Amino acid sequence: MSPTLDCWNIDDLRRRAQRRLPRGVWEYLERGVEDETGMARNRAAFDRITFVPRVMRRVDAIDTSAAVLGQAVPCPIALAPTGAAGMMWHQGDLHLARAAAKAGLPFTISSAGTMDLEALTPAGGRQWFQLYCWRDRELSYDVVRRAHQQGCDTLFVTLDLPVMPNREYLNRNGYGMPVKANGRNVPDMLAHPRWLLGVLGRYLIQDGHLPQQSNLPAAMRQSLAKGAKPGAHFKQDDLDVDEVRRLRDLWPGKLVLKGVLHPDDARLALDIGADGVVVSNHGGRALDHALASIDALPAIVDAVGGKLTVMLDSGVRRGSDVVKARALGADVVLLGRAVLYGLSIAGEAGVTRALELIGSEVVRTMAMLGARNWGEIGPQVLAPRAD
Ligand code: FNR
Repeated sequence: MSPTLDCWNIDDLRRRAQRRLPRGVWEYLERGVEDETGMARNRAAFDRITFVPRVMRRVDAIDTSAAVLGQAVPCPIALAPTGAAGMMWHQGDLHLARAAAKAGLPFTISSAGTMDLEALTPAGGRQWFQLYCWRDRELSYDVVRRAHQQGCDTLFVTLDLPVMPNREYLNRNGYGMPVKANGRNVPDMLAHPRWLLGVLGRYLIQDGHLPQQSNLPAAMRQSLAKGAKPGAHFKQDDLDVDEVRRLRDLWPGKLVLKGVLHPDDARLALDIGADGVVVSNHGGRALDHALASIDALPAIVDAVGGKLTVMLDSGVRRGSDVVKARALGADVVLLGRAVLYGLSIAGEAGVTRALELIGSEVVRTMAMLGARNWGEIGPQVLAPRAD
């Protein structure tokens, strides 16, 4: 029986994923930072927004297709960059890439992923590359050149982690980096035999080693069980406008700045010559008390006046969230944890299931709103805010 057969929404996938993964991997996937108010705020902000349905309209031919950064997509949804997907499923990044390609949706390769970008691009489809800057900027530029050579058409530069986030739970669950066998993580892994054999066992037997931070420059590449903390290689606290302009000059494709919540920063992105921004609080994984992305969206849409592609992520778990983001002006919605839950229980098939669930919810929501295409979704589908 397919593990996703009786999963009827993203939360069903989530509960299954929690059962399947060892605590350390689950917490890395799921948890936030410090007091972890961010994730709940993201959800509360979506839940506060309500629709005004319309009736007596023909909705027997809903068209969800759109153009994203100059190319057609069946639905303006893309897979967000997520590092360490390879700990949730053997070669998890590849499963994400394949499911995205099959659905015709863009997939963002994470620079913190566990597979070489050269091993991912053969999955086909449209691929974007996300960069965290390394201490040695020349090495960062090298990986950006590699991404371009491999056919990635868009570079995402993630800006909302100028310093490493405070993930206190890693100090408690026995999975602090580098991961070493200890009295907490070994019993935890043994208690999750499907993961132990299907993920860890396959790395050891098929690949002969544990997953690595593969997109790190070769000199720094080490298994997750060895070497320095991964954060030791990153240096983003000096990433200012000049540095981003340098990346703009270097990168011949589209440039998207990820982690923008202030309208002035969106205006700066425009000034730098970026093509898009991701309105994101990193899924509540960066600054705990940052405002919800969906609450930040209208002011940013206003600030860029249609001159930038505005993407949104953080807290999207339903097709109705996608429609709400669209109504407030987003051009594209990125999925983070929603697809990782599916990945964790069934690899590519689980990701496909997550995408199907959200896609069908988008269509149903549009039908109830009497909206036949994206052009018909605007602020008029939303009820005035009471607060
Ligand atoms: C992330 N995110 C992320 N972002 C990024 O720019 N580079 C990365 O390597 C990662 N890695 C990563 C790992 C995991 C496990 C998660 C959950 C998230 C953030 C991601 O791109 C996106 O902004 C959030 O996931 C969106 O929030 P939701 O949809 O997960 O609530």
